[in-house]
Amino acid sequence: MQTVLVINSKGGSGKTTIASNLASLFAASHLKTVLMDYDPQGSSLHWNKVREQSDFPPIRLIDASHAKIGVTRTFQLNIPGDIERVVIDAPAGMCKKMLSEMVAKADVIVVPVVPSSIDIHASSMFIYELKLIINASRRNNTAIGIVANRVRRDEALYQPLRHFLDELRIPFITTFTDSDHYIRAVELGMGIHEMSPQAVRLELSQWIPLVRWLATHRVVSAQTPDMPLSLDVATVP
Ligand SMILES: Nc1ncnc2c1ncn2[C@@H]1O[C@H](COP(=O)(O)OP(=O)(O)OP(=O)(O)O)[C@@H](O)[C@H]1O
Ligand SMILES: [Mg+2]
Repeated sequence: MQTVLVINSKGGSGKTTIASNLASLFAASHLKTVLMDYDPQGSSLHWNKVREQSDFPPIRLIDASHAKIGVTRTFQLNIPGDIERVVIDAPAGMCKKMLSEMVAKADVIVVPVVPSSIDIHASSMFIYELKLIINASRRNNTAIGIVANRVRRDEALYQPLRHFLDELRIPFITTFTDSDHYIRAVELGMGIHEMSPQAVRLELSQWIPLVRWLATHRVVSAQTPDMPLSLDVATVP
């Protein structure tokens, strides 16, 4: 099993968009997938409800946003034994206890950052805090990767963030363009790789570095199949 945490304390950075696309990418690759929604706004929950009305491969949703009455937290968040991938959609501005709970579950952490100086500044502070929590935890080798999201033109804006990440030895994985296809996909309960490949060639090509990076951080066990190669091939324009 691999657990991918998609997180940034800054609101609107693309956590739900990336988490839902990642979950559907796994599910479309025949991997049994859980999407865990820690956000009380329930955006992933809503996305999956729409998805359930379609023929797209199913994803199990776990609502982790609030404690369920009458069951322990461990029971509430229990991942069935047959699950191969877990994607966690984090809320903006969470408390330290919740942050630690999510980090403790993660094998790998993806931080989307939008190219505005306000977002980059806030994200840099958050990444530093995240690094401190990881270093203080038992699983202090959890990898963090950054995804530049909603990029329109000027990647130079990310230069200060790149310097900061270099200092912390955190990789910049890929850039996702600002595209209406992402907005449409969320509305329809699908991922962009479930759309017509011709329509989303650029978007698909930008996922390849992330898919490869996640594969290199896979927890190897007999129950953790590789992501099928067909996924990589399917996403090459
Ligand atoms: N690459 C993209 N291209 C175009 N629109 C995008 C992209 N990524 C996200 N968006 C849009 O930006 C808005 C915020 O995205 P999203 O809800 O995924 O962010 P979030 O980090 O989950 O927000 P919150 O902190 O409120 O949970 C949404 O309207 C979404 O459709
Ligand atoms: Mg969200």
